[in-house]
Amino acid sequence: TKGNYRHFMLKEIFEQPITIGQTLATFLDEFGNPSKGFGKVEFSKYKRIYIVACGTAFYAGAVAKYWFEQVAGIPVEIDIASEFRYRKPVLEEEGLFIAISQSGETADTLAALRHAKGKGVETLALVNVTTSTMAREADIYLPINAGPEIGVASTKAFTSQLTALAAFALNMSEQKKFLDKEHLAKLVKALTEVPDIVGETLQLDGEIDKMCLGLSHAKSLFYLGRDMNYPIALEAALKLKEISYIHAEGYAAGELKHGPIALIEPGTPVIVLAGQDPLLEKTVSNLQEVASRGAKVFLVADKKGAEIVGDIAEQIITLPDCDPFTAPIITTIVIQLIAYHTAVHLGTDVDQPRNLAKSVTVE
Ligand code: F6R
Repeated sequence: TKGNYRHFMLKEIFEQPITIGQTLATFLDEFGNPSKGFGKVEFSKYKRIYIVACGTAFYAGAVAKYWFEQVAGIPVEIDIASEFRYRKPVLEEEGLFIAISQSGETADTLAALRHAKGKGVETLALVNVTTSTMAREADIYLPINAGPEIGVASTKAFTSQLTALAAFALNMSEQKKFLDKEHLAKLVKALTEVPDIVGETLQLDGEIDKMCLGLSHAKSLFYLGRDMNYPIALEAALKLKEISYIHAEGYAAGELKHGPIALIEPGTPVIVLAGQDPLLEKTVSNLQEVASRGAKVFLVADKKGAEIVGDIAEQIITLPDCDPFTAPIITTIVIQLIAYHTAVHLGTDVDQPRNLAKSVTVE
């Protein structure tokens, strides 16, 4: 049931401190070490990772690419499932194929998994539905344990996918001894703090709701981000499109000037995601580029970012402090609430958006 919540989507957004905790309990042992839940898999033997998924799950994979490369030093290729087979990818047998899927039934992702298996590559499925086809067919199966997700727009499954992938990258890092012990311990600790910080972030709900009243009048808007905020900008735009039907685009902040800036008119909302941004100064200059063309800039940032941007932004949502490693999970909470409240202001059917199905079983 929805309990006291108006929609399943809102309930699932607010459940995230718990569901992320469940995912952590699946993959971190009682000492907080990322060694549980991965069986006896020797991740250190793989030379390359291929991540394949659709939609929101694809964006989880896009964040994971940064994690695996930064903390485990392993090259990662990522494909949209419907493109993977047909581009005739050159696959190394020492590679690990990872399918990410909430349902475990998405036709394109399943076909990609079968393709990789057929080429002799080991396959792993990161799935929420334990009884699903992907969970059955993959060589290795990792459950994210987010619990059933009812809202068609994925929220808690996404943050659990991210949490599982972060733990996975740390496990691989540990096996490969890629980081020094203190550094690894710091990242593991940061991951265990995520449920509490997500709880704090949810307290921004009222403030975000107010901001969305203005956004609901927009015809079109942009999300910008650098580094791991870039895939989160893509996920943010997808979530907003799906349930509010406002045209939204996510861009790497540095890419805007290569074309899309032509679409910025006085009043166009631009939401800049800059929480724990390692290239904050560059993002600020991208923000100034759009502001000087009349865009209405909204900033989602940590305290430092909020101070630097000051009054160029129409409104600033200040995130609680967290480690840069876990920042994409924290920022996700804000972009989910932005999509939700904007849609509610517009009166759309949040849990059953038009033209969408919870599980896409046709190619
Ligand atoms: C977006 C959304 C979809 C799914 C995509 C993949 O909110 O829910 O983009 O993420 O259809 O579905 P799964 O994860 O079940 O493979």
